[in-house]
Amino acid sequence: MLNSVSTPFRVAISTGGGDAPGLNAVIRAAVLSALNRGWECYGIRDGFAGILTPKLYPHGGVIPLTRDMVRGITSLGGTIVGTTNRGNPLRYPTKLPDGSMIERDRTDELVNGLAVHGIDALISIGGDGSMEIAAALAKKGVKVIGVPKTIDNDLEGTVATFGFDTAVAFATESLDRLQTTAQAHQRIMVVEIMGRYAGWIALHAGIAGSANAILIPEIPFDIDKVVAKVHAREQMGRMFSIVAVAEGAKPVGGKTSVLEHEMGKAERIGGIGEKVAAELQHLTGRETRLVVLGHLLRGGTPTASDRLLALRFGAAAIRALAEGQSGIMVALDPPVVKYIPLEEATKRMRLVPPDCDTMLTAREMGICFGD
Ligand code: F6P
Repeated sequence: MLNSVSTPFRVAISTGGGDAPGLNAVIRAAVLSALNRGWECYGIRDGFAGILTPKLYPHGGVIPLTRDMVRGITSLGGTIVGTTNRGNPLRYPTKLPDGSMIERDRTDELVNGLAVHGIDALISIGGDGSMEIAAALAKKGVKVIGVPKTIDNDLEGTVATFGFDTAVAFATESLDRLQTTAQAHQRIMVVEIMGRYAGWIALHAGIAGSANAILIPEIPFDIDKVVAKVHAREQMGRMFSIVAVAEGAKPVGGKTSVLEHEMGKAERIGGIGEKVAAELQHLTGRETRLVVLGHLLRGGTPTASDRLLALRFGAAAIRALAEGQSGIMVALDPPVVKYIPLEEATKRMRLVPPDCDTMLTAREMGICFGD
């Protein structure tokens, strides 16, 4: 295979933000594609912590990635190099002598750290936060390729991110399982589903898993509309209901339910399922149970579709470097994997368009959105 840059070319791989099934498949494809070009590959531990906080890594914050290390990992969840959603180098939380906290830019240290390790190029696998960091590094002269990852599917510029399909498959299976127990006990089952400020996972799983109501952040809900749906089902002799609630869903005029917000970290969303379940039980008089799928959506083995997408992204990232590209993100635009400027991916969040075909499908089938 060709190599348009001098060898041995040293590529570092970083995985940042919440993990998503398929990260290891990206790593495997990138490492094999690089090694097969005669290049060397390294993994930065836990996002960029392996470089920014080297004392935490007595055995090395930057580790060689060999063929042996990536053997058999296509089907493995998580990430073999570790990840974190703390310590964004653009807004690194730092304690001052008086005990107060500030955020400071540590990207210059990161650029130096990469140079100290003799790294020629970086592959940054992550969500919007990681793409923002990658864009900043590219501006400082680092050769960098972004690879989009998130179960939330909320990144602009790519039709899909790996991890999403696996999360939807698991959430759908969960809804399927809850149908029978809901029916047996004549209960309402409320299922809270991750996705941050986007309702993609709840929408897709909700339709595929035959939820009767789906509440998503893009459509603020009126609980009385959900109560009416439950009653309408009772009129038809269906004494149970399944309500899929995206964690970012909010009532009309209300706010996203946030569990905590720590400096240097994205806010932790959750709790809306509990509120919806309590209100539904109170307003319908029907016994209601809550299931929070939480991090189960991020675990386990990636679906074949996510594996393939992740492998394609990993190989495409190395191909981009071989072509001399930088400052871009690989993106799916079926049937091809293309490259887009990193800035394009972080311009805005990709939300569910209320008039998209999937939404219309759900509405035409009588699924309630609480509006
Ligand atoms: O972005 C992926 C995601 O799983 C979101 O759906 C969720 O809100 C968040 O990460 C949870 O983050 P943490 O792992 O910090 O709890």
